[in-house]
Amino acid sequence: MLLGLRGVGKTVLLNALHDDAKTKGFETLKIEVPDSAGGHLARLLVPGLSIVLRRLNHVAAAEEKLRLAGAALRNFASIFRVEYEGFSFGATPSTPDGSSGDLEADLPEVLRLVCEAAAARGRAIGIFIDEVQYLSEKELSALARSLHEAAQSGFRLIVVGAGLPQIAALIGDAKSYAERLLLFPEVGPLSPEAARKALHDPIERQGEQAEEGALDEIVCATQGYAYFLQTWGKFAWDEADGSPITRLDVQRALPSILNYLDESFFRVRFDRCTQAEQRYLRGMAELGPGPHRTGDIAQVLGVSSSQVAPVRKRLIDLGMIYSQRHGETAFTVPLFDQFMKRAIPVLEPHLPRRRTGA
Ligand SMILES: Nc1ncnc2c1ncn2[C@@H]1O[C@H](COP(=O)(O)OP(=O)(O)OP(=O)(O)O)[C@@H](O)[C@H]1O
Ligand SMILES: [Mg+2]
Repeated sequence: MLLGLRGVGKTVLLNALHDDAKTKGFETLKIEVPDSAGGHLARLLVPGLSIVLRRLNHVAAAEEKLRLAGAALRNFASIFRVEYEGFSFGATPSTPDGSSGDLEADLPEVLRLVCEAAAARGRAIGIFIDEVQYLSEKELSALARSLHEAAQSGFRLIVVGAGLPQIAALIGDAKSYAERLLLFPEVGPLSPEAARKALHDPIERQGEQAEEGALDEIVCATQGYAYFLQTWGKFAWDEADGSPITRLDVQRALPSILNYLDESFFRVRFDRCTQAEQRYLRGMAELGPGPHRTGDIAQVLGVSSSQVAPVRKRLIDLGMIYSQRHGETAFTVPLFDQFMKRAIPVLEPHLPRRRTGA
């Protein structure tokens, strides 16, 4: 489970791992979980699993294990009300055999059968899931249990996920043994050396140059975050008249960079929040980049922690903020505090609901 803030390169890494798995002969599927509350996993997995079975079918003639897996997947789809037009052999059994309607029981079973069908052709199954934090606890638990059973009964399944840092806690809640089954490498900002390299190498490949000072300026402004390096690099390149790209070019590009980021990267997230949620985020920004003590945020807003608890909860569900440690709150988007101060320059004092007098 690759864990990290927005724009650090999780999806890029997930895709690289996915490509790697394919070249190593894994049968793979890759899904991205949408950000509306839970209930997606079955719907997202069925089409990919169906394609996997179809591909296996091309590897050799259909045989017993593949037939079993096909029937199981079709049952699974019908139980979880997922449309299934995919792979099947023969008639649909009239009663779903062995399916319970409980994802935590049924998912491991259907994955076991798919893995066994794959194993019969010398293949293993790899499932790649982006935005894992949007899965429900039940879905995470079903995945954890599938991995547990794979480890116990020796069927060859890997699950690689990517998402916001709160997954670690969510999965911990879902199943205590998940921590033994999964690794949680943290994807963070690049080191200053790596950030310089990420800028320098592509420039050099084009036969151009950048001043050391220009690179320093970018590394400092981006704090090494991949998405920002990409953006600063592009705008500095566009700003420069020729080689070398100078520190002044980078400075001149700054207004366009901030404008672009505000519109494309920050604003879309900000606009999805209600006024109360925006106010909460603005209160956090007042305290700086964070993480902040949840009580301190309430204090800045002039309310008690319990008064803003529902707002905070929704912001966590939206993936705007997260809590790594109990009582702490942090932005999931790097540099979001600076954006919030641009978006709402002044934090208005809290207005009590009930007013007295005229
Ligand atoms: N290793 C890298 N070297 C250079 N640029 C990178 C690297 N990884 C990511 N980037 C740049 O950062 C951008 C964001 O990466 P990516 O989409 O993988 O982030 P993410 O962590 O998945 O973000 P989100 O949480 O918003 O989905 C990429 O489009 C790319 O421009
Ligand atoms: Mg991503």
